[in-house]
Amino acid sequence: MISYSIKEGLNGNPVIPGDKSISHRSIIIPSISNGVCEINNILKSEDVLHTLNAFKSMGVQIKEKEKKITVFGKGLNSLKEPKKSIYLGNSGTSARLLTGLLSSQPFRSILKGDESLSKRPMERISDPLSKMNARINTTNGSLPLMIEGSKLIPSEIELQIPSAQIKSGLLLASLNIIGETKIIENSITRDHTEIMLESFGANIEIEKKDGKKLIKLVGGKELNSKNIEVPNDLSSSAFFIVSALINKNSNIILKNINNNPTRNGVILALKKMGAKIELFNQRYSNNENICDIEVTSSDLYGCELGEEFADLMIDEYPILAVAAAFAKSPSIFRGLKELKVKESDRLKLILLNLQNCGVKCKTEDDDLYIYPSNHYEIKKNEIQTDFDHRIAMAFCIMGSKIGPLKIEDAESINTSFPTFRNEFNMLGGKIL
Ligand code: S3P
Repeated sequence: MISYSIKEGLNGNPVIPGDKSISHRSIIIPSISNGVCEINNILKSEDVLHTLNAFKSMGVQIKEKEKKITVFGKGLNSLKEPKKSIYLGNSGTSARLLTGLLSSQPFRSILKGDESLSKRPMERISDPLSKMNARINTTNGSLPLMIEGSKLIPSEIELQIPSAQIKSGLLLASLNIIGETKIIENSITRDHTEIMLESFGANIEIEKKDGKKLIKLVGGKELNSKNIEVPNDLSSSAFFIVSALINKNSNIILKNINNNPTRNGVILALKKMGAKIELFNQRYSNNENICDIEVTSSDLYGCELGEEFADLMIDEYPILAVAAAFAKSPSIFRGLKELKVKESDRLKLILLNLQNCGVKCKTEDDDLYIYPSNHYEIKKNEIQTDFDHRIAMAFCIMGSKIGPLKIEDAESINTSFPTFRNEFNMLGGKIL
């Protein structure tokens, strides 16, 4: 894929796909609830389809019709032992959430993934589950992973890594444990699982104090299904938001975007940099905050973000780094350790690719420093993505300013945003 620089700005109302995190949960939770769930606007990307196929392979009836999916749930203990190993492609969310859920189901399952997912750390989920007596064998700490489902014991677990995937895996395991499980989160991460479990009638209680969170879940209670309207994904929107900000004469409006306060760090960060972003029509749907967003070309200034931002916008640093490269002053983003264990080592690739584009930048410990300039000379016009969708999309946006940039292995974009190129080109972008 080649991303060319654009002369005119970006203008229009792009169609942003459904939120990836909520889409996964919209299949998982109704599959173990009682009743029928119609899911509207689900993201039909490769990652989500892996979750969907996993539940089909465990006997859940799921009907698909264009953007609507219907899940016929039969309760907490209705899943059947899969006949084959479950293949999850590139999807870390599917892997961590399913490890939790399946560890307290009464059968054996094997989880596999693609080359990149098979390198990602799984002990972060299998270790805390083992404290609950789960029986999980990893392959050197990663996938393939064998889960010998068993009866787990109620436990108190303090999360050692700020991760919604780990928290969600533990919560899904706890649904099938008789007694109260307590999970302590020292820094708050995205809470879509808690929101959906609460609205499906789980016995869940949440206490928040001094930036920490205690979640109590009493398992064994059946959940009742509800219809779900998936809001559009803020993480996917962020690519177009930044492109509109850094390209002159741009004005775009994005509709029905998830604005969950545990996820919207990128909006706060860009506003801190001087971005003209207006949120309007704020409302709730399925207890998730959603809004419409208007973005206008802006002069951006650099900023310093502490590590507390990392939990609120971990997926958005690749595109924020691109925004920082076009600001009028330097930026420092601190505490980016978790970026190293995403779909790729994102910290390494942000640095490598920005430097290839002529941007002066460095990392010190887990902090990223970016020193923008008003003229960039591309050294090598190939962008290395290591099959990481967010690196690919972020550097397409870089290309919209200084292209042409050749984005390698750009088919990874299908894992989260299959319509990215079309939507971008409809706004005035040029990606071929
Ligand atoms: C996700 C949580 C985040 C995020 C990922 C989706 C989720 O991972 O990076 O893209 O849906 O729970 P961590 O919770 O491991 O940081």
